[in-house]
This record gives sequence, structure tokens and C-alpha cells, in this order.
Amino acid sequence: MKTVIRTICACAAASALLLGASSDGFAEHEKKKKVRKVRTSSACSAGASSSLARYKIEKGEVLPASIPKALTKKPGNAERGLETAVNPGKGNCLACHHIAKVLAKADKSDEKSLKLYGNHGEVGAPLNGVGARYSKAELRMIVVDPKKAFPDVTTVMPAYHARTASKDVKRACRGRVMLSAQSVEDIVSFLEELK
Ligand code: HEC
Repeated sequence: MKTVIRTICACAAASALLLGASSDGFAEHEKKKKVRKVRTSSACSAGASSSLARYKIEKGEVLPASIPKALTKKPGNAERGLETAVNPGKGNCLACHHIAKVLAKADKSDEKSLKLYGNHGEVGAPLNGVGARYSKAELRMIVVDPKKAFPDVTTVMPAYHARTASKDVKRACRGRVMLSAQSVEDIVSFLEELK
């Protein structure tokens, strides 16, 4: 309980400082400290993970690359996969793809539900029917590293389970993967059911 009170007090004091309520030297010092703290705590996205699963890439049936073996021992969960896919801090797949099954979940009378399930982008193809177009091994390849799944195009789709050392990636995300191996398996199970 004590800690809770202290945390609340510290927050209130810090926000007063940030608002410039006091301008003596100490306040300035505290203000700088606070700003620095905010900057360094800008964490990587909610779904990011620091462990990369080992996987073997093989030739697919339709695509030049596929990952036949699951990344985890625990099987994927399609329901959880849907939620991870739509979560803006995790898969954020709706930013680029239309998915009819997700749209059907949107409750028009509920603003929150409509915001989460109802906004679909058009950068990528609609994902309706991908479970029939690709094998599970190919769907896994697409989510893990679409650059290997579609080598002929410079795809804008991000690699969700491949490390990138790119300078474009913010510092907190370097050496991390966008989604854990389990989240990838969940999304693959969700995609497999889109037939
Ligand atoms: C920044 C946009 C973007 C995001 C975000 C994105 N994709 Fe894609 N995706 C694409 C594009 C573009 C393609 C088509 C490949 C190409 O030509 O670049 C594609 C292709 C695919 C395909 C193959 C579709 C087909 O019919 O051939 C699947 C499956 C897929 N994406 C799944 C996902 C999933 C699942 C997520 C979220 C975890 C996701 N994508 C997030 C842009 C995106």
C-alpha cells in the first residue's frame, strides 16, 4: 500500500515539474531527469520478444519457401491468434489487410469493438481464403519472414519473427522479434482456418 501512495505522489510531483510549476535549480534538475527517464523507457511494442526460435526453411508447394515444423511444442490457438493479429501493439495485421471474419466480430453499437475489429487497410490483399490458398508451412513462412516467402517483390509486410539489425528499427527493438514464437503459431492457426 505504501508503495502505491509513494508512486502516486512521485507522479504528481513529476507532472507538476513538467508543467513548469516550479523553476528553481533543483526543479530543473528533476525535470531533466524525468524527461530522460521517459525517453529511455520508450519500450518496444507490446508483442515483442527477445527469443528467436530455430526454424528450417524448405521449399513450399505454392511459394518458394516454407517452414514445415512448428516453432513451438504447444499448438497454436486460433482464437488467441485472431486477437494477437488485430492488436495494434502486436500483429496489427488490419493496418494492411481486410479480414471478413474479423469484421463480422465488430459490434456496431460499441465504439471500442468497432475501433478494434472494424478498421481494415488495403495495402495487402484481403486474407479471406488464405487457409485454402497456402499450406500451413507457407503461412508460417509468410508471418515469420515474408521477404523469403515473396522474394520477387520488395514487400512492405514486416518480418514478425526474424531479427533485424536495421538502423530504421528503434533502439529498444534492436535484437528483438516483433512477435514471440507462440504468437506466430497462434496467428498461423487463425490463418489456417480462413478458408
Ligand atoms: C505494412 C503492411 C502489412 C502488414 C502490417 C501486414 N501485411 Fe501481410 N501482406 C502485405 C502485403 C503488401 C502483402 C502482399 C505481398 C507483397 O506483394 O508485398 C501481404 C501478404 C500477406 C499474405 C499472403 C496473402 C495472399 O493472398 O497472397 C498473408 C497470409 C499475410 N500477408 C498475412 C499477414 C498477417 C497475418 C499480418 C499480421 C501479423 C500481416 N500480414 C501484416 C502487407 C502487410
